Amino acid sequence: MSSYSERYQSEIEALRQKSRTRKLSLGEGIDFTSNDFLALSESDSIRKAVRDALDRGVPLGAGGSRLLRGNHAAHIELEEKAALFFNCEKSLFFANGYSANFALLTSLPKRHDLIVFDALSHASIREGISASFAKSVKVPHNDVDAIEGTLSKWHSTRSRNSLAWVAVESLYSMDGDFAPLTELIAIAERFDSMLLVDEAHATGVWGRHGRGLTEPHENHPNVIAVHTCGKALGAAGALVCTSAALINFLINKSRPFIYSTAPPPINAVAVSAALDLIDAETERREQLHELIALANHEMESKFELKGSGSQIIPFIVGADNHAIQVAETMQNAGFDVRAIRPPTVPEGTARLRISITLNIEESDIVRFFDTLYAVKQSLDIS
Ligand SMILES: Cc1ncc(COP(=O)(O)O)c(C=O)c1O
Repeated sequence: MSSYSERYQSEIEALRQKSRTRKLSLGEGIDFTSNDFLALSESDSIRKAVRDALDRGVPLGAGGSRLLRGNHAAHIELEEKAALFFNCEKSLFFANGYSANFALLTSLPKRHDLIVFDALSHASIREGISASFAKSVKVPHNDVDAIEGTLSKWHSTRSRNSLAWVAVESLYSMDGDFAPLTELIAIAERFDSMLLVDEAHATGVWGRHGRGLTEPHENHPNVIAVHTCGKALGAAGALVCTSAALINFLINKSRPFIYSTAPPPINAVAVSAALDLIDAETERREQLHELIALANHEMESKFELKGSGSQIIPFIVGADNHAIQVAETMQNAGFDVRAIRPPTVPEGTARLRISITLNIEESDIVRFFDTLYAVKQSLDIS
Protein backbone atom coordinates (compact mmCIF):
# COMPACT_ATOMS: atom_id res chain seq x y z
CA MET A 1 0.00 0.00 0.00
CA SER A 2 1.35 3.46 -0.84
CA SER A 3 2.01 5.85 2.02
CA TYR A 4 -0.95 7.88 0.73
CA SER A 5 -3.37 4.97 0.90
CA GLU A 6 -1.91 3.88 4.24
CA ARG A 7 -2.50 7.22 5.91
CA TYR A 8 -6.17 7.39 4.93
CA GLN A 9 -6.80 3.70 5.39
CA SER A 10 -5.57 3.94 8.97
CA GLU A 11 -7.88 6.89 9.62
CA ILE A 12 -10.80 4.90 8.28
CA GLU A 13 -9.74 2.00 10.52
CA ALA A 14 -9.81 4.34 13.51
CA LEU A 15 -13.31 5.43 12.53
CA ARG A 16 -14.35 1.79 12.18
CA GLN A 17 -13.17 1.06 15.72
CA LYS A 18 -15.54 3.79 16.93
CA SER A 19 -18.48 2.67 14.71
CA ARG A 20 -18.08 5.89 12.77
CA THR A 21 -17.46 4.90 9.20
CA ARG A 22 -19.90 6.19 6.63
CA LYS A 23 -20.92 4.66 3.33
CA LEU A 24 -23.11 5.73 0.46
CA SER A 25 -26.36 3.84 0.17
CA LEU A 26 -29.40 4.32 -2.01
CA GLY A 27 -32.70 5.33 -0.48
CA GLU A 28 -34.66 2.12 -0.02
CA GLY A 29 -37.77 1.54 2.04
CA ILE A 30 -40.34 4.01 3.34
CA ASP A 31 -38.87 7.48 3.50
CA PHE A 32 -38.29 8.57 7.10
CA THR A 33 -35.06 10.33 6.27
CA SER A 34 -35.23 12.78 3.38
CA ASN A 35 -35.79 16.52 3.60
CA ASP A 36 -38.25 16.36 0.73
CA PHE A 37 -40.84 17.56 3.23
CA LEU A 38 -43.56 18.52 0.75
CA ALA A 39 -42.71 15.76 -1.75
CA LEU A 40 -41.96 18.45 -4.33
CA SER A 41 -38.89 16.68 -5.69
CA GLU A 42 -41.25 14.58 -7.80
CA SER A 43 -43.94 17.17 -8.42
CA ASP A 44 -45.59 16.93 -11.83
CA SER A 45 -46.04 20.67 -12.16
CA ILE A 46 -42.37 21.36 -11.41
CA ARG A 47 -41.37 18.70 -13.94
CA LYS A 48 -43.63 20.38 -16.49
CA ALA A 49 -42.17 23.82 -15.76
CA VAL A 50 -38.68 22.39 -16.28
CA ARG A 51 -39.69 20.55 -19.48
CA ASP A 52 -41.32 23.71 -20.89
CA ALA A 53 -38.24 25.74 -20.00
CA LEU A 54 -35.96 23.22 -21.72
CA ASP A 55 -38.20 23.42 -24.79
CA ARG A 56 -37.92 27.23 -24.70
CA GLY A 57 -34.14 26.87 -24.70
CA VAL A 58 -33.29 27.59 -21.05
CA PRO A 59 -29.83 26.02 -20.72
CA LEU A 60 -28.81 23.25 -18.36
CA GLY A 61 -25.47 24.80 -17.53
CA ALA A 62 -24.84 28.50 -16.91
CA GLY A 63 -21.53 28.53 -18.75
CA GLY A 64 -19.77 30.88 -16.38
CA SER A 65 -19.89 32.96 -13.24
CA ARG A 66 -22.89 35.22 -12.72
CA LEU A 67 -20.50 38.16 -13.10
CA LEU A 68 -19.47 36.94 -16.54
CA ARG A 69 -21.69 35.24 -19.12
CA GLY A 70 -23.27 32.88 -16.58
CA ASN A 71 -25.99 35.36 -15.61
CA HIS A 72 -29.27 34.17 -17.16
CA ALA A 73 -32.79 35.52 -17.27
CA ALA A 74 -33.92 32.47 -15.22
CA HIS A 75 -31.67 33.55 -12.32
CA ILE A 76 -32.95 37.10 -12.42
CA GLU A 77 -36.59 36.04 -12.69
CA LEU A 78 -36.18 33.74 -9.71
CA GLU A 79 -34.50 36.40 -7.59
CA GLU A 80 -37.19 38.94 -8.42
CA LYS A 81 -39.91 36.44 -7.61
CA ALA A 82 -38.18 35.43 -4.35
CA ALA A 83 -37.83 39.07 -3.26
CA LEU A 84 -41.59 39.53 -3.69
CA PHE A 85 -42.37 36.14 -2.15
CA PHE A 86 -40.19 36.60 0.95
CA ASN A 87 -40.88 40.33 1.19
CA CYS A 88 -37.29 41.48 1.11
CA GLU A 89 -35.64 44.24 -0.85
CA LYS A 90 -33.51 41.81 -2.83
CA SER A 91 -32.59 38.17 -2.97
CA LEU A 92 -29.54 36.39 -4.33
CA PHE A 93 -29.48 32.79 -5.60
CA PHE A 94 -26.63 30.49 -4.59
CA ALA A 95 -25.95 26.93 -5.76
CA ASN A 96 -26.75 25.50 -2.32
CA GLY A 97 -27.24 26.40 1.32
CA TYR A 98 -23.72 25.41 2.25
CA SER A 99 -22.15 27.93 -0.10
CA ALA A 100 -24.69 30.61 0.82
CA ASN A 101 -23.89 30.36 4.54
CA PHE A 102 -20.18 30.17 3.82
CA ALA A 103 -20.39 33.17 1.49
CA LEU A 104 -22.31 35.32 3.98
CA LEU A 105 -20.06 34.56 6.91
CA THR A 106 -16.81 34.98 5.02
CA SER A 107 -17.73 38.24 3.37
CA LEU A 108 -20.01 40.28 5.64
CA PRO A 109 -18.36 40.08 9.11
CA LYS A 110 -15.00 41.91 9.13
CA ARG A 111 -11.84 41.64 11.20
CA HIS A 112 -13.03 43.66 14.21
CA ASP A 113 -16.56 42.30 14.17
CA LEU A 114 -18.04 39.68 16.45
CA ILE A 115 -20.01 36.59 15.40
CA VAL A 116 -22.07 34.88 18.10
CA PHE A 117 -23.31 31.46 17.06
CA ASP A 118 -25.44 28.71 18.48
CA ALA A 119 -23.55 25.56 19.51
CA LEU A 120 -25.78 23.40 17.29
CA SER A 121 -25.35 25.50 14.17
CA HIS A 122 -24.96 23.65 10.89
CA ALA A 123 -21.48 22.79 9.59
CA SER A 124 -21.77 25.39 6.81
CA ILE A 125 -22.25 28.15 9.40
CA ARG A 126 -19.32 26.91 11.45
CA GLU A 127 -17.04 26.57 8.43
CA GLY A 128 -17.93 30.10 7.35
CA ILE A 129 -17.13 31.39 10.83
CA SER A 130 -13.81 29.51 10.94
CA ALA A 131 -12.80 31.06 7.62
CA SER A 132 -13.96 34.55 8.62
CA PHE A 133 -11.57 37.17 10.05
CA ALA A 134 -14.11 38.15 12.71
CA LYS A 135 -13.88 37.04 16.33
CA SER A 136 -16.44 34.42 17.24
CA VAL A 137 -18.16 33.21 20.40
CA LYS A 138 -20.07 29.93 20.60
CA VAL A 139 -23.04 30.00 22.96
CA PRO A 140 -25.01 27.05 24.38
CA HIS A 141 -27.95 25.93 22.28
CA ASN A 142 -30.90 28.32 22.31
CA ASP A 143 -29.44 30.21 25.28
CA VAL A 144 -30.92 33.66 24.83
CA ASP A 145 -29.26 34.98 28.00
CA ALA A 146 -25.83 33.89 26.77
CA ILE A 147 -26.38 35.66 23.45
CA GLU A 148 -27.65 38.77 25.20
CA GLY A 149 -24.74 38.74 27.67
CA THR A 150 -22.16 38.32 24.90
CA LEU A 151 -23.65 41.13 22.83
CA SER A 152 -24.00 43.39 25.85
CA LYS A 153 -20.32 42.96 26.69
CA TRP A 154 -19.34 43.58 23.07
CA HIS A 155 -21.61 46.62 22.86
CA SER A 156 -19.96 48.34 25.81
CA THR A 157 -16.44 47.79 24.50
CA ARG A 158 -16.93 47.76 20.74
CA SER A 159 -14.53 49.62 18.55
CA ARG A 160 -15.89 52.23 16.18
CA ASN A 161 -17.30 50.72 12.97
CA SER A 162 -17.32 47.19 14.34
CA LEU A 163 -20.53 45.19 13.95
CA ALA A 164 -21.97 42.10 15.63
CA TRP A 165 -23.63 39.13 13.94
CA VAL A 166 -25.67 36.34 15.45
CA ALA A 167 -25.98 33.09 13.48
CA VAL A 168 -28.78 30.61 14.19
CA GLU A 169 -31.00 28.08 12.49
CA SER A 170 -34.71 28.76 12.76
CA LEU A 171 -35.40 25.01 13.04
CA TYR A 172 -32.42 22.90 14.03
CA SER A 173 -31.56 20.20 11.55
CA MET A 174 -30.67 17.40 13.96
CA ASP A 175 -32.84 18.26 16.98
CA GLY A 176 -35.89 19.60 15.19
CA ASP A 177 -36.41 22.31 17.80
CA PHE A 178 -37.02 25.98 17.12
CA ALA A 179 -34.91 29.08 17.77
CA PRO A 180 -36.57 31.74 19.94
CA LEU A 181 -36.64 34.12 16.99
CA THR A 182 -38.83 36.85 18.44
CA GLU A 183 -36.55 37.23 21.46
CA LEU A 184 -33.44 37.06 19.29
CA ILE A 185 -34.71 39.77 16.99
CA ALA A 186 -35.51 42.02 19.96
CA ILE A 187 -31.96 41.46 21.23
CA ALA A 188 -30.50 42.12 17.78
CA GLU A 189 -32.38 45.42 17.66
CA ARG A 190 -31.30 46.40 21.16
CA PHE A 191 -27.62 45.77 20.50
CA ASP A 192 -27.58 46.99 16.93
CA SER A 193 -26.57 43.59 15.58
CA MET A 194 -27.57 41.44 12.61
CA LEU A 195 -29.33 38.10 13.02
CA LEU A 196 -28.45 35.61 10.31
CA VAL A 197 -31.23 33.02 10.18
CA ASP A 198 -30.69 29.77 8.34
CA GLU A 199 -34.21 28.71 7.39
CA ALA A 200 -33.10 25.46 5.72
CA HIS A 201 -35.71 23.27 7.44
CA ALA A 202 -38.42 25.87 7.86
CA THR A 203 -38.78 27.26 4.33
CA GLY A 204 -41.95 25.94 2.72
CA VAL A 205 -43.08 24.17 5.89
CA TRP A 206 -43.39 26.82 8.59
CA GLY A 207 -44.81 30.34 8.63
CA ARG A 208 -48.45 31.12 7.87
CA HIS A 209 -47.79 31.11 4.14
CA GLY A 210 -44.86 28.71 4.15
CA ARG A 211 -42.25 31.45 3.99
CA GLY A 212 -40.36 30.16 7.02
CA LEU A 213 -40.20 31.15 10.66
CA THR A 214 -38.94 34.63 9.77
CA GLU A 215 -42.23 35.23 7.95
CA PRO A 216 -43.59 37.54 10.69
CA HIS A 217 -40.30 39.47 10.62
CA GLU A 218 -39.78 39.82 6.89
CA ASN A 219 -37.94 42.90 5.73
CA HIS A 220 -36.69 43.51 9.27
CA PRO A 221 -33.48 45.57 9.06
CA ASN A 222 -31.73 43.33 11.62
CA VAL A 223 -32.47 40.02 9.88
CA ILE A 224 -30.89 38.17 6.97
CA ALA A 225 -32.72 34.99 5.96
CA VAL A 226 -31.24 32.07 4.04
CA HIS A 227 -33.89 29.94 2.37
CA THR A 228 -32.42 26.74 1.02
CA CYS A 229 -34.12 25.19 -2.00
CA GLY A 230 -33.01 21.56 -1.73
CA LYS A 231 -35.32 20.56 1.10
CA ALA A 232 -39.04 21.46 1.10
CA LEU A 233 -38.64 23.21 -2.26
CA GLY A 234 -37.55 19.91 -3.79
CA ALA A 235 -34.79 21.30 -6.02
CA ALA A 236 -31.39 22.76 -5.05
CA GLY A 237 -29.91 26.13 -4.19
CA ALA A 238 -30.38 28.85 -1.60
CA LEU A 239 -31.95 32.29 -1.68
CA VAL A 240 -30.37 34.91 0.54
CA CYS A 241 -32.98 37.52 1.42
CA THR A 242 -31.96 40.90 2.75
CA SER A 243 -31.47 44.58 1.87
CA ALA A 244 -30.40 45.76 -1.58
CA ALA A 245 -27.19 47.15 -0.06
CA LEU A 246 -26.07 43.81 1.36
CA ILE A 247 -27.00 41.87 -1.78
CA ASN A 248 -25.07 44.35 -3.87
CA PHE A 249 -22.09 43.89 -1.56
CA LEU A 250 -22.28 40.09 -1.89
CA ILE A 251 -22.34 40.38 -5.67
CA ASN A 252 -19.22 42.53 -5.52
CA LYS A 253 -17.27 40.85 -2.76
CA SER A 254 -18.44 37.37 -1.96
CA ARG A 255 -15.85 34.96 -3.34
CA PRO A 256 -18.04 31.81 -3.40
CA PHE A 257 -20.51 33.82 -5.49
CA ILE A 258 -17.95 35.42 -7.77
CA TYR A 259 -15.46 32.63 -8.38
CA SER A 260 -17.89 29.87 -9.20
CA THR A 261 -20.03 28.84 -12.14
CA ALA A 262 -23.57 30.09 -11.63
CA PRO A 263 -26.19 27.51 -10.58
CA PRO A 264 -27.82 25.78 -13.56
CA PRO A 265 -30.48 28.13 -15.00
CA ILE A 266 -32.83 25.17 -15.35
CA ASN A 267 -32.58 24.68 -11.59
CA ALA A 268 -33.63 28.31 -11.09
CA VAL A 269 -36.74 27.46 -13.10
CA ALA A 270 -37.45 24.48 -10.81
CA VAL A 271 -37.09 26.64 -7.69
CA SER A 272 -39.30 29.30 -9.18
CA ALA A 273 -42.01 26.71 -9.89
CA ALA A 274 -41.63 25.41 -6.32
CA LEU A 275 -42.26 28.90 -4.92
CA ASP A 276 -45.45 29.07 -7.00
CA LEU A 277 -46.56 25.75 -5.51
CA ILE A 278 -45.82 26.82 -1.95
CA ASP A 279 -47.98 29.86 -2.59
CA ALA A 280 -50.82 28.02 -4.30
CA GLU A 281 -51.03 24.59 -2.69
CA THR A 282 -51.57 25.38 0.97
CA GLU A 283 -53.14 21.95 1.41
CA ARG A 284 -49.72 20.31 1.10
CA ARG A 285 -48.54 22.23 4.13
CA GLU A 286 -51.73 21.43 6.04
CA GLN A 287 -51.39 17.72 5.27
CA LEU A 288 -47.78 17.74 6.39
CA HIS A 289 -48.69 19.45 9.66
CA GLU A 290 -51.25 16.74 10.36
CA LEU A 291 -48.54 14.11 9.88
CA ILE A 292 -46.15 16.11 12.07
CA ALA A 293 -48.74 16.25 14.88
CA LEU A 294 -49.34 12.50 14.61
CA ALA A 295 -45.63 11.64 14.63
CA ASN A 296 -44.95 13.81 17.66
CA HIS A 297 -47.95 12.29 19.41
CA GLU A 298 -46.68 8.77 18.65
CA MET A 299 -43.25 9.66 19.98
CA GLU A 300 -44.70 11.09 23.17
CA SER A 301 -47.24 8.35 23.83
CA LYS A 302 -45.01 5.37 22.99
CA PHE A 303 -41.75 6.55 24.52
CA GLU A 304 -42.88 9.17 27.02
CA LEU A 305 -40.34 11.46 25.39
CA LYS A 306 -41.18 14.98 24.38
CA GLY A 307 -41.41 15.30 20.60
CA SER A 308 -39.65 18.20 18.91
CA GLY A 309 -42.93 19.65 17.65
CA SER A 310 -41.54 19.80 14.12
CA GLN A 311 -41.09 17.48 11.14
CA ILE A 312 -37.65 16.46 12.44
CA ILE A 313 -37.86 14.24 15.49
CA PRO A 314 -34.67 12.95 17.09
CA PHE A 315 -34.74 9.55 18.76
CA ILE A 316 -31.61 9.75 20.85
CA VAL A 317 -29.97 6.38 21.47
CA GLY A 318 -26.61 7.47 22.89
CA ALA A 319 -23.83 5.13 21.80
CA ASP A 320 -22.86 5.11 18.13
CA ASN A 321 -23.02 1.32 17.74
CA HIS A 322 -26.45 1.18 19.34
CA ALA A 323 -27.78 3.89 17.03
CA ILE A 324 -26.51 1.90 14.04
CA GLN A 325 -28.07 -1.27 15.39
CA VAL A 326 -31.47 0.39 15.80
CA ALA A 327 -31.26 2.04 12.35
CA GLU A 328 -30.30 -1.22 10.64
CA THR A 329 -33.09 -3.13 12.35
CA MET A 330 -35.58 -0.46 11.26
CA GLN A 331 -34.17 -0.57 7.72
CA ASN A 332 -34.57 -4.34 7.62
CA ALA A 333 -38.18 -3.81 8.63
CA GLY A 334 -38.66 -1.60 5.55
CA PHE A 335 -38.14 1.90 6.96
CA ASP A 336 -35.47 4.19 5.56
CA VAL A 337 -34.23 5.94 8.69
CA ARG A 338 -30.56 6.73 9.32
CA ALA A 339 -28.30 6.83 12.33
CA ILE A 340 -26.69 10.22 12.91
CA ARG A 341 -23.45 10.10 14.86
CA PRO A 342 -20.80 12.54 16.09
CA PRO A 343 -19.35 14.83 14.90
CA THR A 344 -22.67 15.71 13.23
CA VAL A 345 -24.28 15.58 16.69
CA PRO A 346 -22.61 15.95 20.12
CA GLU A 347 -20.75 12.99 21.65
CA GLY A 348 -23.01 10.49 23.41
CA THR A 349 -26.12 11.61 21.50
CA ALA A 350 -26.07 9.33 18.45
CA ARG A 351 -29.62 9.09 17.22
CA LEU A 352 -32.15 8.28 14.61
CA ARG A 353 -33.17 11.46 12.83
CA ILE A 354 -36.80 10.82 12.02
CA SER A 355 -38.00 13.03 9.22
CA ILE A 356 -41.68 13.44 8.37
CA THR A 357 -42.55 14.17 4.75
CA LEU A 358 -45.47 13.87 2.36
CA ASN A 359 -43.76 10.79 0.96
CA ILE A 360 -45.42 8.83 3.77
CA GLU A 361 -48.91 8.30 5.11
CA GLU A 362 -50.49 8.21 8.56
CA SER A 363 -50.45 4.41 8.63
CA ASP A 364 -46.69 4.42 7.87
CA ILE A 365 -46.09 6.66 10.87
CA VAL A 366 -48.06 4.45 13.23
CA ARG A 367 -46.28 1.34 11.95
CA PHE A 368 -42.92 3.09 12.19
CA PHE A 369 -43.34 3.97 15.86
CA ASP A 370 -44.84 0.56 16.72
CA THR A 371 -41.81 -1.07 15.12
CA LEU A 372 -39.38 1.31 16.79
CA TYR A 373 -40.94 0.51 20.14
CA ALA A 374 -40.57 -3.25 19.52
CA VAL A 375 -36.99 -2.81 18.30
CA LYS A 376 -36.05 -0.81 21.35
CA GLN A 377 -37.53 -3.47 23.66
CA SER A 378 -35.85 -6.32 21.79
CA LEU A 379 -32.42 -4.70 21.68
CA ASP A 380 -32.72 -3.68 25.31
CA ILE A 381 -31.21 -0.29 24.67
CA SER A 382 -31.97 2.27 27.35
C1 LIG B 1 -29.37 23.87 8.68
C2 LIG B 1 -28.76 23.66 7.35
N1 LIG B 1 -28.17 24.68 6.75
C3 LIG B 1 -27.60 24.56 5.54
C4 LIG B 1 -27.60 23.37 4.88
C5 LIG B 1 -26.93 23.25 3.57
O1 LIG B 1 -27.88 23.37 2.56
P1 LIG B 1 -27.63 22.64 1.17
O2 LIG B 1 -27.97 21.21 1.38
O3 LIG B 1 -28.53 23.37 0.23
O4 LIG B 1 -26.17 22.85 0.85
C6 LIG B 1 -28.23 22.26 5.46
C7 LIG B 1 -28.29 20.97 4.74
O5 LIG B 1 -27.74 20.00 5.05
C8 LIG B 1 -28.81 22.41 6.74
O6 LIG B 1 -29.39 21.37 7.35
